[in-house]
Amino acid sequence: MNQDYIKPDAWSIIEEGFDAARVESSESLFSIGNGAMGQRANFEEQYSGDTFQGSYIAGVFYPDKTKVGWWKNGYPEYFAKVLNAPNWIGINVAINEETLDLNTCKEVKDFVRELNMKEGYHQRSFVAVMPNDLEVKVTATRFLSIVDDELGAINYEVEVLNADAVLKFTPYLDGGITNRDANWEERFWETIDVKAENEQAFVVSKTFKTEYHVGTYMQSEITLNGEKLQVEGEVEKADDQVSISYSVKVNKGEKIALQKYAGYVTDMNHNQDSLIAAAKNVLQKATTSGFAQLLQEQKEAWAKIWEMADITIDGDVKAQQGIRFNIFQLNQTYLGKDERLNIGPKGFTGEKYGGSTYWDTEAYCIPFYMATKDQQVARNLLTYRYNHLEKAKENAQKLGFTNGAALYPMVTMNGEESHNEWEITFEEIHRNGAMVFAIYNYVRFTGDYSYVPEMGLEVMIAIARFWQQRANFSKNKNKYVILGVTGPNEYENNVNNNWYTNYLAKWCIEYCIENIEKIKAEFAEDHSRIMAKTSLDAEEIAKWKDVAENMYFPYSEEFGVYLQQDGFLDKEIEPVSTLTKKQRPINQNWSWDRILRSCYIKQADVLQGFYFFEDHFSEENLEKHFDFYEPITVHESSLSPCVHSIQAAKLGRMEQAYTFYLRTSRLDLDDYNHEVKEGCHITSMAGTWMSIVEGFGGMRVVDGKLSFTPQLPEQWNGFSFKVNFRNQILKINIGKNETTFSVDGNEPMTVLLNGEAIEVQNTINS
Ligand code: BGC
Repeated sequence: MNQDYIKPDAWSIIEEGFDAARVESSESLFSIGNGAMGQRANFEEQYSGDTFQGSYIAGVFYPDKTKVGWWKNGYPEYFAKVLNAPNWIGINVAINEETLDLNTCKEVKDFVRELNMKEGYHQRSFVAVMPNDLEVKVTATRFLSIVDDELGAINYEVEVLNADAVLKFTPYLDGGITNRDANWEERFWETIDVKAENEQAFVVSKTFKTEYHVGTYMQSEITLNGEKLQVEGEVEKADDQVSISYSVKVNKGEKIALQKYAGYVTDMNHNQDSLIAAAKNVLQKATTSGFAQLLQEQKEAWAKIWEMADITIDGDVKAQQGIRFNIFQLNQTYLGKDERLNIGPKGFTGEKYGGSTYWDTEAYCIPFYMATKDQQVARNLLTYRYNHLEKAKENAQKLGFTNGAALYPMVTMNGEESHNEWEITFEEIHRNGAMVFAIYNYVRFTGDYSYVPEMGLEVMIAIARFWQQRANFSKNKNKYVILGVTGPNEYENNVNNNWYTNYLAKWCIEYCIENIEKIKAEFAEDHSRIMAKTSLDAEEIAKWKDVAENMYFPYSEEFGVYLQQDGFLDKEIEPVSTLTKKQRPINQNWSWDRILRSCYIKQADVLQGFYFFEDHFSEENLEKHFDFYEPITVHESSLSPCVHSIQAAKLGRMEQAYTFYLRTSRLDLDDYNHEVKEGCHITSMAGTWMSIVEGFGGMRVVDGKLSFTPQLPEQWNGFSFKVNFRNQILKINIGKNETTFSVDGNEPMTVLLNGEAIEVQNTINS
């Protein structure tokens, strides 16, 4: 059974009723973020039940020494850990000296949580009957400002319903935090300063090894029935902690509230010795504005994001909620302002994979950012990898590659490989191809070729070098082969001739050569510069060509399909439908040995190639491969359903496409993989966007123009979305009987609708 406690609502994620068993799942689902920091939806007040505490700062990580049985040469030295950072949300609440803790209350009534996606805040309210029989109503509202991304704000309001009482708020900062996920139980943070002055408090901490310096800060204000109250705080300091308590006597029914302004400043953006000054500066602005004004600005900033990024779905509230949740989380994770940052698979919602960059960005996320933001954002994502090129060369060198060959890491924070598992980390070399595909995709969509001579070609050359060296000539097959790899399907390790990898390798080399020629013809100066820098000559290019032209691809004449890898047909091939419910997901119920022997596929592998290179294959061919591979795919990676949804839509199988759509868009809301408590699947959320825009909308770029082949799922009355195509904003409305387009501004735009060119002015019907 999937979880189903989230109330369907077009703009909000809502939970009603308090259930301790759901706390950790809700902490993931109701997470908030602003691109620079983010946090799980932990309670502000003390909670003694099961909880997974998490507050994260973009780019701040710890290199946790790898833990393996026997060390082998070439293992990554460390696993980059996104760090649970000092806690600034904490507010202990005591009423007549009894601590408020939902886990120990006699009763929790009217509990409602809302993640208001439209306006960008989280709110929780409840009535608690405390062990001392006091009945208190609490409403806590919290957001991370996207206007000032160093700032978070909380309004914590309490009303004692059945007595006059003394209320004590103790807002605090705590640097003594730990990670749930740590290899050696080491401490990741050292507190170097704890300060409190003039109602403000600061904890300055630094990470061990990486030495990030972070200033965590807070200042609070008290209001009674909405009016500011002057209450002097009582400071308490400990090694890693500082708190300022405020006690107020309140009458029954009065509303007492604490506004806490807090957050992080880091030495990624400030001098190490001016962190406290920087924090004071943020506080000064925040307290001048006040909570209501800050929230108003937050709403306006989110309205701007939604204006461009929203997708509306008419007639299907669950589908609508799903897509908005995905769009909201993507924007909470990455706003594209800082080219040092990227999109972690769990964003700021958990520790697993958290914070680090995977091939997910290039394969799945770029299309979303490219179409819903300024194109500079997608360029920043590409530049991030260009900036890591030297490190990617070092990574390859460590494995024995030479001559400037580059292997981009499977998991990284700063360009170094930083994951624990050999079979996945190193053998999933297909990620190198995704780097090049992203460049191709960017140029195809934006028309901005300048990235290629400036940066992209150097990346492509280093990657082509890698592929040429990684392939070897098999006398037996009289072809080039690529041995010992893991494809996107991580349920096969160390296989030979993964079709997807071989196909990408060939394509990367050919695309690189094509670009070298184009740059030679059109950007002669860049060409000379790059050739000199890389010492590339005709002899080397001839070697690449030989590999590309003579690459081996496993193929079954019997089934007329490319095989996922050598020997695939030796497996017992039985569809997933023959598995019992108890066996699923297989990654939680089967031994790894059994999984590896089985035919079951975690996520699109051969079909990932058909998705990237759709134009290389006929629809009939796609159908054959889809019918062969999809029935044996368990979709246990969040990245799986979206690709299949797009392909099912292309094949006109709308029921199936819709089922996959719901699975990708509500993967976390309905917890399909029974793991949402670990965090949400952020990168696959961009895949959800693709399954609407590319799947149901059928959007493609054809000869430099946008092309659409819309299909409406039966369950919907219509849907609409916007794309920023080459700096023009196009709005597409797909209804039951017609598709309409409009373009912002006076410039017309030519689009293709079911293959026919139409000129879109401002509002055009077709
Ligand atoms: C998938 C990978 C992906 C990673 C991070 C894994 O489960 O198999 O393809 O890169 O998650 O999202």
